[in-house]
Order: sequence, then C-alpha cells, then structure tokens
Amino acid sequence: MSNREAMLEKIADLDAQHAVAVAGGGEKYVDRHHARGKLTARERIELLVDPGSAFLELSPLAGWGSDFTVGASVVTGIGVIEGVECMISANDPTVKGGASNPWTVKKIFRASQIAEENDLPTVSLVESGGADLPTQKEIFIPGGRLFRDLTRSSARKQPTIALVFGNSTAGGAYVPGMSDYTVFVRGGAKVFLGGPPLVKMATGEESDDESLGGAEMHARVSGLADYLAEDELDAIRIGRRIVARLNRRRTNPGLVTGLRPSSTSRKPMVDEVAQRPSRDRGLSFAEPDADPDTLLDLIPTDLKEPFDPREVIVRIVDGTSERNGRPFDEFKPLYGTSLVTGWAQLHGHPIGILANAQGVLFSEEAQKATQFIQLANQSDTPLLFLHNTTGYMVGKDYEQGGIIKHGAQMLNAVSNSSVPHLSVIMGASYGAGNYGMNGRAFDPRFLFTWPSAKSAVMGPAQLAGVLSIVARAAAESKGQQYDEEGDAGMRAMVEQMVEEQSLPYALSGMLYDDGVIDPRDTRTVLAICLSVISKTSWTGGQGFGVFRT
Ligand code: COA
Repeated sequence: MSNREAMLEKIADLDAQHAVAVAGGGEKYVDRHHARGKLTARERIELLVDPGSAFLELSPLAGWGSDFTVGASVVTGIGVIEGVECMISANDPTVKGGASNPWTVKKIFRASQIAEENDLPTVSLVESGGADLPTQKEIFIPGGRLFRDLTRSSARKQPTIALVFGNSTAGGAYVPGMSDYTVFVRGGAKVFLGGPPLVKMATGEESDDESLGGAEMHARVSGLADYLAEDELDAIRIGRRIVARLNRRRTNPGLVTGLRPSSTSRKPMVDEVAQRPSRDRGLSFAEPDADPDTLLDLIPTDLKEPFDPREVIVRIVDGTSERNGRPFDEFKPLYGTSLVTGWAQLHGHPIGILANAQGVLFSEEAQKATQFIQLANQSDTPLLFLHNTTGYMVGKDYEQGGIIKHGAQMLNAVSNSSVPHLSVIMGASYGAGNYGMNGRAFDPRFLFTWPSAKSAVMGPAQLAGVLSIVARAAAESKGQQYDEEGDAGMRAMVEQMVEEQSLPYALSGMLYDDGVIDPRDTRTVLAICLSVISKTSWTGGQGFGVFRT
C-alpha cells in the first residue's frame, strides 16, 4: 500500500471517530432537542461565530475509550466573534442532558487554560444537567475550579460571557453567576440552586420553575440576567453585540461571511480562510513551495520508516518570497544531524523549528536543541516542535558521554523557555524524547497529533521485552524455573495493550493533545494558533535553570 493510501485510510478512520463526536447523543436525542425548537451545541456555535471564519475545535475526541460519549458532552474551540478570537465552550444537551462527566470537566479546564495563556474572552453556551450524578465523586471536588477559573479570568480582564439556553441548576448556576455578562433565553433558561422538588423537601415551599429560575424572573427580579433574549437566535445576536463592545483588539474587522469546517470536518480546512487574520494584520507571505497535499505521499504510517522532516517543513511554512527569502534557513545543519533546527515563517509569523530526523536523540542533538532554544529566546521567536523520536540514545558509550546531562540541558531549555511553543506529534514520540520535544507535560500552548503518531514510555515490543527480562531475572534470583509459555503470552498481551494505549485516539481521549488533525490541515491549524498567540506579549529568555555541564 502506498503512503498516501495508508494515510488516507487512517484519515477516514479519524473522520469516523469525529463523526461520533459530532453525532452527540445520537439521532433520537438530537431529534427530540430539535422538536423542542432548540438548536444543538454546534448549531449555536455556527451562528455565533463570524460567517466565513475558522473555528478551531479543541479536544473533539475527549473521553474516547472511556464509558462516556466521545466528545465528553461539551464542544470547545476558538472562534472569531465580531472579529475577536474567543474561547467558546458549549454544553451538548443531547448527551445525558448536557451533564458534566469527569472528561467534560477536564476538557473545560483545558479550554480555560488556553483562554488564560492566550488572553481570550470566554463565551459559555449553557444548557447542562449539572454534574453527571453517577460519577459525582470524581467531579464534585475538582469541578469547583470551573467557577473559580471564570472569576479569575474576569480578574485578568479576560471577559466571560454566559448565554444560557436551558438548564443551569445547582453548581451549574454559578456559570452565569461568575460571568461578567449573562444572556437568558425566555422560556428556555432555568437557573436555580434547587428546583421545585428540592425546595419542597428543604423548606416545604411550593414553587415552579419560572418563579425559581426563569429568564423573565432573573431579568426583572433577581438581576442575574443582564439581557432577556426572546429566543435562541436573539441570545446569539446579543452575545455577538456584547463581544463587539468589549473593546478588544480585532483580528479581522472585515471578515463577515458561514462557519468554516472545524477540525471535525471531513475535508481539509480551507487555508485561505485562516489566512485572512494574518493578511489583515498586514502580514504578507507566500504559499508553501510544495503542495501540503503531497504530505500524504511522504509520511510513512509505518513508524520504522524514516522520513526527512525538511520535506514536511517546506509543505507547512511560507514559501519563497522577497521578504521570506528561502522557506527554511537551517541552523547548524552539519552538527547533530538527527535533529533539524532552523528559522521560517508561517502566515507571516516568524518561527523557530526543531524537528526530529533519524529518530534518536544523541548528545549532539540535545546540545544543539539547547542552543537553538536559547537563540529563539534571544530573538523572542516562537518555537514549533515536530516530533518523530524514539527517545534519547542508550548504551555504555552514550551514558559515559553524558547523555543524561545533555538531555537534562535540553529539558531545562524547553521547560524554562519563555517564548510560546507549539508541538505537532507527526510520528513516534517516545520516552524522554517526548519531554525534550515539548510534549504535553511541558505545556506547549497548543499540541496536535497526526493520525500516524504513537506515544508511550517506549515502543510496545521493547516494553514487553523489558518486562520479560525483569521477570526472568526475578525468577532466577528466587531460584525458580521461568515460565516460558506464560512469558510469550504475557509479552503478546502487554504488547497489544501498549500498542492500543500509544495510539492517537487513546491519547487524545485522555486530553494529552488538543486534537488529532489531518496532516494537510497542519499549516492552517498552526496559523490559527499563531494568530491567537500573536495577540499576547512575551519576552524570551526570562531565566533558565542551572545548565549542568
Ligand atoms: N447526571 C446523569 N445523567 C443525567 C443527568 C445528570 N445530572 N441529567 C440528565 N441525565 C440523563 C437522564 O437520565 C437521561 O438518560 P436516559 O435518556 O439514558 O434515560 C438523559 O440524561 C436525558 O435526560 P432527560 O431528563 O430525558 O432530558 P431532558 O432534556 O428532558 O432534561 C434535564 C434535562 C437536565 C433538565 C433533566 O435531566 C434534569 O433535571 N436532570 C437533573 C439535573 C440536576 O438536578 N442535576 C444536579 C446538578 S448538581
């Protein structure tokens, strides 16, 4: 099978996984929701964002592989409203009444971290049955952070807006409660700490939904609603007007026309749409010198086959132009050659790139990376990490040569670098190589994965082999006969388990990335991230730890 065919197969599978998330609670619940005259979470988002603008959906596969519906009953992503990039978080009421399960909470935490780091206003589209009651023990205590994050966001002058379409009871009532602006839909919003049955139980008082928490009551009596919307469309219209008056820096005042496909789309995103923010900021740039579509021919889905990351870079970054010169100015090309480093621009944004070439990181690569990261900090240039590494080199010569020290230098540089980082896991991302290349634990601003990626402490066969060696040695030290037959079974089982745990969906399901993307969308996705990042300010080189020498 050709590389293209193999990758297209993986992309088709990815589309199928995304389709599950898009289906929400399924036809029965979506139809019931529509029959009640309500819009779905995605329909609300489509109407809220500027027509024709890009919506970068985040964590669409959250909860994959768990007992919960893929997507975790909430849709999050970055969308442009009245020219302002905003974090949008929309409960999906078709999944368990929009109740929040442990993955919902983690997904919203991640969205809130992105909003904080990138200085984004947050718009919450609320319709939720509150805590998923059967799993309350996992969410009740940590879940309080959702409300804390909202008010801290406000304290940082990152505005928070709640558009309340439906149920928002008990703890959920604090979403509008903690937001700067609230819009309640007449006849839809229901916001109370305790509903009529609970009140009856608690105090004996007879009440009804409207008098306890209806939109009209909150708009006229309690004052919790700042705006009373006639219907859902009116709430969305009011929400857009609120954003328009936030006096935020606009991405693209001229941008006015349908929702662009998100990362859950079946087709590659249209790069031209995502370009508009950059072009409108006066950034000029050329299209890549090589067609991004040909990435599919280039990337082997068998991770044992090496590929030249320069071929990936030239399909992602801006092409040759008078301003840009050549697309990629490689740094130290003759030294530490299994890591490619160099300078480029993407949609006009300058970036430094570190990309694995031959898979293994040796001392030279670690030291080259350390120097390169410091250079990017000197020039305040954001960094892009393209992962395809099996980790740092092991073996006597390498240990004696100081591979730990050199790896530690690279980890120090990555951890304490104060320019924004982006990561894309293209292929392998194993062991401490994942850390050195700015994996999730090292907090890149955004991290996306290709369908061909795999990530784990080590490869499945190696891990099973290590376990087998350790078990054999343990048996020998106890003077026991080693069970060879059992060993073969154990190895096969562990290998299969680690293989499954290393796959992108499993990792994305646990929120270890911000989404699995079609490789052809990489340029566009990174451009949206850079556009978001570019509204924030940073100073490189704010202080590294002690570099062990
Ligand atoms: N936890 C777990 N499951 C919940 C849930 C919750 N908080 N809220 C709703 N569900 C489930 C329902 O059991 C139902 O499951 P099923 O279809 O498999 O039987 C499904 O979600 C849909 O609920 P349903 O009541 O049919 O939907 P609705 O749209 O008519 O009403 C609510 C939605 C949210 C208004 C209603 O379900 C409700 O009041 N839930 C409890 C709210 C609450 O008090 N939460 C505690 C907050 S801390």
